[in-house]
Amino acid sequence: NWKEGFRDSLTGWYREEKRDLPWRRTRNPYHIWISEVMLQQTRVDTVIPYYARFTERFSDMKELAYAPEDELMKMWEGLGYYSRARNLQSAVREAYETYGEVPADPESFGKLKGVGPYTEGAVMSIAYGIPAPAVDGNVMRVLSRILLIDDDIAKPKTRRLFEEAVMDLIDKEDPSSFNQGLMELGAVICTPRRPKCLLCPVREFCGAYHEGREEELPVKSKK
Ligand code: ADE
Repeated sequence: NWKEGFRDSLTGWYREEKRDLPWRRTRNPYHIWISEVMLQQTRVDTVIPYYARFTERFSDMKELAYAPEDELMKMWEGLGYYSRARNLQSAVREAYETYGEVPADPESFGKLKGVGPYTEGAVMSIAYGIPAPAVDGNVMRVLSRILLIDDDIAKPKTRRLFEEAVMDLIDKEDPSSFNQGLMELGAVICTPRRPKCLLCPVREFCGAYHEGREEELPVKSKK
């Protein structure tokens, strides 16, 4: 049963080898949400100090919900994509006023302003252990290689194919370690160029490794 082997190798590796990152030390769903929004278009090393300042200044949902715009922008300055911050504040305000917390339900959470499928899956799985797919570019690269998926990842509909693949493989006992294991693998081992296959905990399950095609995947059109 290779799916079980894959799942256990991935989550086992993640639990042992994960980088010690600030948002991996909290169980606060709102803080995890902030980290995932920041990490969407910004690299880990850049996010770390912003995450620390932001969660300090806006430590709970109420603080952010009623924060003045200029202060919000000051805390976000340098991260770019300022609509992310405004959407986050709107969504936090809405969640706070409607539920008093981050809703532990993908349907409700996914309807909040600016919460797309990636954020939905990441926060639901990491904060609440709900099996939901969190598919970003890194995860598509990893799974395209494991499963030899050659669909164009630049096409919007391709993400849904990868979401189905995740749901077919995910560890229902520990969706957080499974999803973050895929992210971690993409960040440190299964890199776009010269992936470190000899260090990969799941290379025995990897179609691209077996065929020596890891640098050919994923397929991405220019558009
Ligand atoms: N990129 C997106 N989410 C992440 C996470 N939870 N840890 C590290 N990098 C990430």
